[in-house]
Amino acid sequence: MTLLTVRDLVAGYGDTNILHGVSLDVEKGGIVTLIGPNGAGKSTVLKAITGLLRPRGGSVKLEGRELAGLSPEDIIAAGLGFVPQVDNVFPSLTVAEHFALARGRDRRRATESALEFFPQLEPQLHRMASVLSGGERQMLAIARALVLAPRLILLDEPSAALAPQIVQMVFDRIVAIADSGISVLLVEQNVKAALPLSHYAYALQVGRNALSGPGPDLLVDPRLNDVYLGRSAGAPAAGTPAAGSPAATEPSNS
Ligand SMILES: Nc1ncnc2c1ncn2[C@@H]1O[C@H](COP(=O)(O)OP(=O)(O)OP(=O)(O)O)[C@@H](O)[C@H]1O
Ligand SMILES: [Mg+2]
Repeated sequence: MTLLTVRDLVAGYGDTNILHGVSLDVEKGGIVTLIGPNGAGKSTVLKAITGLLRPRGGSVKLEGRELAGLSPEDIIAAGLGFVPQVDNVFPSLTVAEHFALARGRDRRRATESALEFFPQLEPQLHRMASVLSGGERQMLAIARALVLAPRLILLDEPSAALAPQIVQMVFDRIVAIADSGISVLLVEQNVKAALPLSHYAYALQVGRNALSGPGPDLLVDPRLNDVYLGRSAGAPAAGTPAAGSPAATEPSNS
């Protein structure tokens, strides 16, 4: 069943539109990944979904409820968790203080369940985030978002700047989160690590949908190179997938 439906999303900064009609679906318990070259607008999509950037067109529906136009606070309350791309922990706060700041309905229970995903944080509860490793900091940022018991968590490049071994561990945890029923919308540059475990993936090119398909299929799609090289991948206009393209069928990231 579809949890999040984004249609023809338009957003930008100042006088410039960056997203020119992006569409995507996230199924319940699914991992959906957004890929594409630097500057394609991946982070902007996440900001527009969470209301940090007010959409200028299109719709963002969570189980049919329109989120576009709501405040970030109301969108988080509706069940979205967001882990931004950089600076996503407070260096001078302890791990426990991060959890204490999160305003969950049943924070204690939610903290326990967040720690079940990241048991390596348990012995670090009273250490400051600044002394954690890069991998631990990323886990803390994700765990903190989980304390709010989201239905969907948006992760912006959780593997950036992590050693390959740690990347695997973080992705392993992301799979566990999705298996628990929390849907994941992931932005990733590390396509080789992310696509094999993505139920569905979308490649963006200059603020438009360029390619989409089940993650493992997209990984071996020869047109993916064109997307990264800035060439046309036979890109359909937003919302009207080209016949025969992976996007021509209704996204079914089950
Ligand atoms: N706050 C901002 N103000 C103005 N322009 C911005 C802002 N944030 C991003 N942009 C511009 O929007 C475009 C898309 O940026 P965005 O960060 O969404 O790309 P991205 O796909 O996430 O890239 P990366 O892979 O480098 O993280 C870029 O041209 C960027 O310069
Ligand atoms: Mg980005």
